[in-house]
Amino acid sequence: MAQVLLEKITKIYPGGVKAVDAIDLHIADKEFIVLVGPSGCGKSTTLRMVAGLEEITDGTIRIGDRVVNSVPPKDRNIAMVFQNYALYPHMTVYKNMAFGLKLRKVPKNVIDQRVMEAAKILAIEHLLDRKPKALSGGQRQRVAVGRAIVREPAAFLFDEPLSNLDAKLRVTTRAELKRLHHRLKTTTIYVTHDQEEAMTLGDRIVIMKDGIIQQADTPLVTYQKPVNRFVAGFIGMPPMNFFDGLLKMVNGAMVFEEGKLEDAKVVTKRADEPQVAIGQVTLPGNGFTIPVPEQLRACLGAKVGKHVVLGIRPEHLSLTDHGGESINVKLNVVEPLGNDMDLYLETVLHPHVVARVEAHAGLEVSSQVKMFVDLKKIHFFEPGETGVNLSLVSEKPHAAA
Ligand SMILES: Nc1ncnc2c1ncn2[C@@H]1O[C@H](COP(=O)(O)OP(=O)(O)OP(=O)(O)O)[C@@H](O)[C@H]1O
Ligand SMILES: [Mg+2]
Repeated sequence: MAQVLLEKITKIYPGGVKAVDAIDLHIADKEFIVLVGPSGCGKSTTLRMVAGLEEITDGTIRIGDRVVNSVPPKDRNIAMVFQNYALYPHMTVYKNMAFGLKLRKVPKNVIDQRVMEAAKILAIEHLLDRKPKALSGGQRQRVAVGRAIVREPAAFLFDEPLSNLDAKLRVTTRAELKRLHHRLKTTTIYVTHDQEEAMTLGDRIVIMKDGIIQQADTPLVTYQKPVNRFVAGFIGMPPMNFFDGLLKMVNGAMVFEEGKLEDAKVVTKRADEPQVAIGQVTLPGNGFTIPVPEQLRACLGAKVGKHVVLGIRPEHLSLTDHGGESINVKLNVVEPLGNDMDLYLETVLHPHVVARVEAHAGLEVSSQVKMFVDLKKIHFFEPGETGVNLSLVSEKPHAAA
């Protein structure tokens, strides 16, 4: 078992694609870390560099205390399971699992012991004499994992190992992998593009975009305190709703007003908008307005009169008034999910707003409804795809003015 350290790792493919851009990542011994992000963000490239299957353009990789930059894959003491784990079709499950050890000239009795133990852990003892074609997808997947376990590697690398399985099997196999990690405690780097899989498996998850790590933290922190708009939109399902708008002072109180910034204008006459002071920026009034909660005012002070993005998770919109502020929306679609339901809504300016609420009878599609906002849970971001989470700024100690 071992820690894995990535220091300023960069990969530029021939032809100039920068797939991974100077990433730093310290994976602790026994840690289960998940690399997650959209297609093409550099997850597989990162994993393949750790495995030694891809040359590193720049940076250092250490496994344990050893720099492995120029160590060939077979000598790195790691085991990798891919999406297309090719089992040898002419060999039995036992032989598939034993094959790698046999090549390494491990004594027969040791091979036997390790295969039997792995088979027991994975509950495939009864399948050892079968050939892969006589197995289900999930069983084949377990054999592929078994083949990795028997090597007793310093680290496991998984690249989307569940993506060939159907939805139900993916969920059960993912629980098995988690149990397996509890038992073996082998350092694991796991790649997926599925945020739910990442959240359920990882001790920490690493959210990547364009070859850059956006955030590396526990699933809960990435959900509750996303560092930027990209992470906020990627973690959580259905994704967070974002609203463009403006922060302004109305009768001395800070509010967020939804609206298009190109429509913003400066108040020059009292009569234009009596509540807003002359000289302030305002928007023509068909967006919704909500007050900025007390705890966020300090960190948003410098943003008054500026474009910000409000983020509200679907689960923080509700049909019931728990003492929150409300916004008026049109209800377009109701999607029942059993205990919960998703409501597809629109505001005057925003055609796609989603709310996840408790199942509730008697809602009329195409009607106007009031959605209550849990103000304690809202976020504000700088504009732009990776605009920083302004709501987190207040948590840092105040710098001396
Ligand atoms: N052999 C290669 N030659 C050139 N470019 C490559 C090569 N392999 C990957 N890339 C590019 O590098 C970038 C990162 O690819 P990578 O396979 O690491 O992404 P990924 O995050 O694993 O995506 P996915 O979720 O689709 O598997 C992409 O832009 C991809 O097109
Ligand atoms: Mg990939």
